[in-house]
Amino acid sequence: LAFYNFIGKGRVKFMRILVADKLANDGVEYLRSEGFDVDVNTGLSKEELIKIIGDYEALIVRSATQFKGEIIDHANKMKVVGRAGVGVDNIDIPKCTEKGIMVVNTPFGNINAAAEIGIALAFSLFRNIPQAYLAGKNKDFRRANFAGEELEGKKVGIIGMGKIGAIVAGKLSGCKMEVMGYDPYVTKDRMESLGVKYCETLDEMLPECDLITLHIPKTPETAGILGEKEIKMCKKGARIVNAARGGLIDEKALYEALKAGDLAGAALDVVEKEPDFKKTPDVQDYENPLLELDNVIYVPHLGASTKEASLNVSVQVAKTIAAALRGELVAAINMPPVKIDDKSDIRSYIKLSEILGKVYYQVEDDKISKIDIKYQGELAKIDTKILSLSFLKGFLEKFSSEQVNYINAEAVLSSTGIDFVESKSSSGNENLITASFISGDKKSSISGTVTGKEVRLTDFFGYKFNLEASGNLIVVQNMDIPGIIGKICTVIGESGINISGMQMSRNKKGEKDVSFIYVDSVCEDKVLDKIKGLEGVYKASRISFGD
Ligand code: 3PG
Repeated sequence: LAFYNFIGKGRVKFMRILVADKLANDGVEYLRSEGFDVDVNTGLSKEELIKIIGDYEALIVRSATQFKGEIIDHANKMKVVGRAGVGVDNIDIPKCTEKGIMVVNTPFGNINAAAEIGIALAFSLFRNIPQAYLAGKNKDFRRANFAGEELEGKKVGIIGMGKIGAIVAGKLSGCKMEVMGYDPYVTKDRMESLGVKYCETLDEMLPECDLITLHIPKTPETAGILGEKEIKMCKKGARIVNAARGGLIDEKALYEALKAGDLAGAALDVVEKEPDFKKTPDVQDYENPLLELDNVIYVPHLGASTKEASLNVSVQVAKTIAAALRGELVAAINMPPVKIDDKSDIRSYIKLSEILGKVYYQVEDDKISKIDIKYQGELAKIDTKILSLSFLKGFLEKFSSEQVNYINAEAVLSSTGIDFVESKSSSGNENLITASFISGDKKSSISGTVTGKEVRLTDFFGYKFNLEASGNLIVVQNMDIPGIIGKICTVIGESGINISGMQMSRNKKGEKDVSFIYVDSVCEDKVLDKIKGLEGVYKASRISFGD
């Protein structure tokens, strides 16, 4: 699924980004070259972070920094937090969403590294390599103590057949293992296409496997997935690899099974309570009974620690953060899913929706009680949630003192008391969005469409146009009488503003005209006032499309 969000355009040179965990320099350099103000300040305590977090528009972390609780409460300027990696369990996503902070990660940057460490741990477990190495360091070369087993011909059960699990399946198939997979979110067809035997339940898989390897995130649903019952279900002499997340295995039950010899071994890149990865051994006070067992191999969360993965996640997170801060569309974790129709360029329609939202308060003052947004044509067939959010973001921008973005737009709307209704109609050939603003008995509508990539307004409060929605405009409503346009343009010209284009529409001959006058610079209030003062002019306002 794709998740999308964007933040209003900002001037990047005033935007500050804090890198709070170790990140390859390439990402930092990229952000600086794009004009952002980047501070690399790693290893901060919670208290230190609370003190400074309010100064930053964006934060980049790996798994060490916890972006939760009070730290989020103090992150008052924060627009986006980027996880340079996959797992986001160090970030309180619902709290970020509530505060309007977008959460992004790099879902692909380190997947191969994560898969490879799973394979490395499997080989280490089956051949007792770390134990033999340690003994050798102490001049104990009695190789008979370290006889192992081969992977070839054995059965492996992969828990989690997503991106990483699929890579692991491919690599272990290459080792000629028989691969079984359990993942409630992956279909039988998909697993079979990967040459993996589909298991509907863990009960079906666990008793069969010589090796069990986990490749799932830690969520409330997956925490403790290998509990006492499941561990007891495993084949005698099976081995377990966990290079995914601590907390997926009941460590007490694992300890008992390893000590009793029911399981032959476990290799862990992650544990429920991880040690402090920065402390030197003399001050390290970490205790974990699992580490005392000879049949346990533990490595300190090295899954993503490769040169390649560090570079990938650093550059990927930097590009996503920069794009988000520039107001571009980026994939965010805490957003509703959006289906994109291949034929429609959703990005242009997102822009159109935001423009429709922005225009109203540039030309009207009436207080709105209800907004009706209607999607027509192909748009009626797709999930339009992102378009409605985009509209609200544009509409509420002027209305609210809060920074409105896709995450908090609905919450900001509900605080205004304005009703928002969405409707769809697939009739007609045109992909049209119409926003109707209801104020008492008055209903005013603006419609627009997209031609190629160009956003165009087709109806403006009942007047028909085909207007390119970009640049700066002066909108004048006037009597339909000879000479009036000349007078309006003279005022604009005499004020030193260059007119670059113009379109007119009238409702009925001799009644009212609306003129859209494209200008090269923003029209000042005093010029607008002069236009308003002309005889026959009912109304004059300016529109900026914000591009
Ligand atoms: C991840 O979730 O991406 C991995 O566990 C890596 O974590 P790290 O960035 O702290 O090494």
